[in-house]
Amino acid sequence: MQLCHQNTQITELVNDWHAQGRVVAFVPTMGGLHQGHLSLIDIAKQKADKVIVSIFVNPAQFGKNEDLDSYPRTLNTDLVVLETNVDGIFIPDVKQIYPNGIGKHIDVGKIGKILCGKTRPHFFNGVAQVVEILFGIVRPDVAVFGQKDYQQLLVIKQMVKSLSLDICIKSGEIIREKSGLAMSTRNQYLSENEAKIATNLYKILFYLKCEILQNKKIDALKQLAEFDLKKHFKLDYLEVLDANTLRQITDNTHQIIILSAVLLGSVRLIDNIIFKKG
Ligand code: PAF
Repeated sequence: MQLCHQNTQITELVNDWHAQGRVVAFVPTMGGLHQGHLSLIDIAKQKADKVIVSIFVNPAQFGKNEDLDSYPRTLNTDLVVLETNVDGIFIPDVKQIYPNGIGKHIDVGKIGKILCGKTRPHFFNGVAQVVEILFGIVRPDVAVFGQKDYQQLLVIKQMVKSLSLDICIKSGEIIREKSGLAMSTRNQYLSENEAKIATNLYKILFYLKCEILQNKKIDALKQLAEFDLKKHFKLDYLEVLDANTLRQITDNTHQIIILSAVLLGSVRLIDNIIFKKG
């Protein structure tokens, strides 16, 4: 395993692997690793000969009043987990990634302006910015992202297409705790009691899915689910959309996605369920 802190080190490493005809997969992370990240690494291993993981808490995707300073940084344990699991680890600092400062505007299109993009207007711009830079440094053949951040996944796919990048984007399903709670680095912020309350998010989304599959009217079901969510959380949004486009469901919709973002105290939770239209 190679540990790289400099852009040039990781670029050279990948160049060498490419020269040997190796396929390279990349899993970008902000650290605070959990089973969800490990499942992405497993997918990367299946798709490539060499796997690189980056750990970089990207300031560009945090708003002024968000948790950049308190974001869980668990580098030592992350390294223990990665050491025997991947071929390269890239841990740049802010100067390596943003030598000219943060602030480049990237058009994240309509898909980046709805849902989380409405509540966190800086977010997808910051994600697209760092992912484009990381792709330029690492130059992977494959990159793997989690479906928990489903909107992020679509924004990245759209960016790869519009920049004609020769990178195959793969995704991994949400990994859940036994309680149903979607795994997330930010779950570390939850108290024991909050972690129990948080399980209601998935329960309500799952119940909504079951009701939709019984061909009941989506609008009415959505209203009931919103009512239930508000018993436990401050609701940001709940939407039932076409999973490919994140637009309203039409006759051409093959897969439906239920997406929600809620606040539990100061902790923002997001979750989604994707399923075939019945
Ligand atoms: O999903 C994440 O952890 C981050 O948004 C990403 C893709 C690593 C970019 O900072």
